[in-house]
Amino acid sequence: MTCRICNNSTYMVLDLGSTPPANSFLSSIEDKIENFPLVLEYCSSCSNLQLRDCLDSDKLYKNYYYVTPKSQTLDSHYSFFTNFLLAKNYLNSESSVVEVGSNIGDFLQHIKPYVRSIIGIDPAENIAAKANSLGIETICDFFSTAAADNIKKKYGSADTIIARHCFAHNASPHDLLQGVKLLMAPDGHVIIENAYAVNTIEGNEIDQIYHEHMFYYSIQSMSKALELNGLVLVDLFISQVHGGSISFVATHAENNPTVLDSVADYLSYEKTVLTKSKLLDFASSASKIKIELNALVKNILNEGKTIYSYGATAKGNTLLNFIGLNNESITYCVDSTEIKQGKFLPGSKIKIINEEEGLNNPPDYFLLTAWNYRDEIISKTRESGNYSSAFIVPFPELKIMR
Ligand code: TYD
Repeated sequence: MTCRICNNSTYMVLDLGSTPPANSFLSSIEDKIENFPLVLEYCSSCSNLQLRDCLDSDKLYKNYYYVTPKSQTLDSHYSFFTNFLLAKNYLNSESSVVEVGSNIGDFLQHIKPYVRSIIGIDPAENIAAKANSLGIETICDFFSTAAADNIKKKYGSADTIIARHCFAHNASPHDLLQGVKLLMAPDGHVIIENAYAVNTIEGNEIDQIYHEHMFYYSIQSMSKALELNGLVLVDLFISQVHGGSISFVATHAENNPTVLDSVADYLSYEKTVLTKSKLLDFASSASKIKIELNALVKNILNEGKTIYSYGATAKGNTLLNFIGLNNESITYCVDSTEIKQGKFLPGSKIKIINEEEGLNNPPDYFLLTAWNYRDEIISKTRESGNYSSAFIVPFPELKIMR
């Protein structure tokens, strides 16, 4: 197929079969849902990892259930990230900020005291309405050149454009970056945070692959996308959030800005990870987790013990559907997001219950499908008085934590 960044040809890395869109929770166990292929491919020309088949955004975002969870892990990430932006002067008290894919506005709420103005833009109606009701002005739309133009006409250029974990959700980075180019002030910056391909590959995180994630960005692929749109990567911020993330900082190429050493430093390491042999290892890790996790679940059930999953995550749905686990082996899925509770996971049809129910009637094992919040969830479970349930942690290597 063809690389959607640089147009060169790609080769297949991993085929996870056909699954429903990962955030399409079912209201009733009888609901029918369509499956779509989930195939990862690689472009050795610009080191881009992408989904072979991209779904239309209306299929993905019509009924959207992803609400930023309340989490200490996220709060501390927001603090580190904001400190980085302030220290490097990518944000200051004069900055007008636009956040793309701002969800219910948690991050904007966090930076509001430090900047001149904030505006969010998010395509999910229920989510944008919630943000507005919480006092964060949020436009309900997909970010595009047209949306950027409207924002610019109404509010002026943006000094800082922030896009956290949403760039990969668009089939064309060029559309997004053209919007950025148009909206960003002449000396402005754009900060694009995304799961980092290096962590995805090194951590065997095959569950990061789902229909919303159309790209698995690297320094090389993002640099190429920026370059093709008159922008240039000048700095980076690496963090552990969401299983390992990277924040790309870019500005207008015509400014001929200084590129900081952080870019070259991480780039040289990245080149040792995004290689044909490591991508093959990554693909093999998918078969390995499938065999090992199925065997573990079978043994636990044979002992007459129970398993719930913890976290109605998009990535968890990739994992369960790929492994072939469903409501016959996993009794419930526990999740703190109110709008997910009472619904059923797409594919596996496991019923989602709230954390209190999970606490009142605990299983012998939790399969930690929100493994990116591992320490927070395990501590919270113990602090609530559940010392008995063990946790099955699927990544980076399958292990049980007691
Ligand atoms: P996230 O890791 O952002 O998943 P994805 O991007 O793969 O959908 O979502 C975390 C999920 O875990 C979210 O649905 C809320 C849930 N959660 C809990 O149930 N309890 C918790 O303490 C935390 C931190 C999250």
